[in-house]
Amino acid sequence: MFWKLRYVALILILGIPQPASSFNVDVENPMIFSGSQEDMFGYTVKQFENEERKWLLIGSPWEGQSKNRTGDVYKCPVLKTRNPECVKLNLAEFLTVPNITEVKENMTLGMSLASNPKAGFLTCGPLYSYKCGGLYYVAGACLNVSATFKVVNTIAPTVQGNAGQTSKIENTPSVINLLSSN
Ligand SMILES: *[C@@H]1O[C@H](CO)[C@@H](O)[C@H](O)[C@H]1NC(C)=O
Ligand SMILES: *[C@@H]1O[C@H](CO)[C@@H](O)[C@H](O)[C@H]1NC(C)=O
Ligand SMILES: *[C@@H]1O[C@H](CO)[C@@H](O)[C@H](O)[C@H]1NC(C)=O
Ligand SMILES: *[C@@H]1O[C@H](CO)[C@@H](O)[C@H](O)[C@H]1NC(C)=O
Repeated sequence: MFWKLRYVALILILGIPQPASSFNVDVENPMIFSGSQEDMFGYTVKQFENEERKWLLIGSPWEGQSKNRTGDVYKCPVLKTRNPECVKLNLAEFLTVPNITEVKENMTLGMSLASNPKAGFLTCGPLYSYKCGGLYYVAGACLNVSATFKVVNTIAPTVQGNAGQTSKIENTPSVINLLSSN
């Protein structure tokens, strides 16, 4: 079903942040963050703030086409300019679970984004998979990223056993539930 979702390019309209307020809609002076429609840039958007400044985190779950489509997340500074430049965080390589045959291609990293109340944020690739006994298991996995954009750890509660074992995944939906609860 996901594959059939229509993608609408991101045209985000945000106000210039005032010192005391957060994000306002301002149709007079919009800030526009643009990216590749093919990569589904803008599929997810999250406001984020660290000691440095205010940011927008923007998911691009099909980033990496055509060779290695893994997905990624961009950080976009909220500046008083019209077209602030976004920087790709290159998170896909850091999402990793030891001792399994990972399949990161098409994992759609950045498809969900959630602020972490303890600072930082979580982003997930619901279609992260691994190969085991000739079968593919779609497990989904998330990355815990610190407020300074450093990867803290990978969270993959539904990955079970090591490569070579054939244990079944019984609760695949839990990752998705975790994400949609935000
Ligand atoms: C695809 O990219 C991921 C993340 O950078 C990397 O871990 C993986 O090895 C790459 N796969 C291929 C087939 O190049
Ligand atoms: C991964 O496998 C290696 C060698 O088989 C082992 O030493 C290591 O403890 C394993 N790591 C985890 C996290 O299971
Ligand atoms: C990823 O998706 C593309 C396009 O649907 C497909 O051709 C490719 O085989 C997929 N890769 C994996 C590892 O599933
Ligand atoms: C994410 O990392 C923070 C440290 O930055 C830690 O406090 C928190 O427990 C981690 N969350 C998970 C779910 O691993």
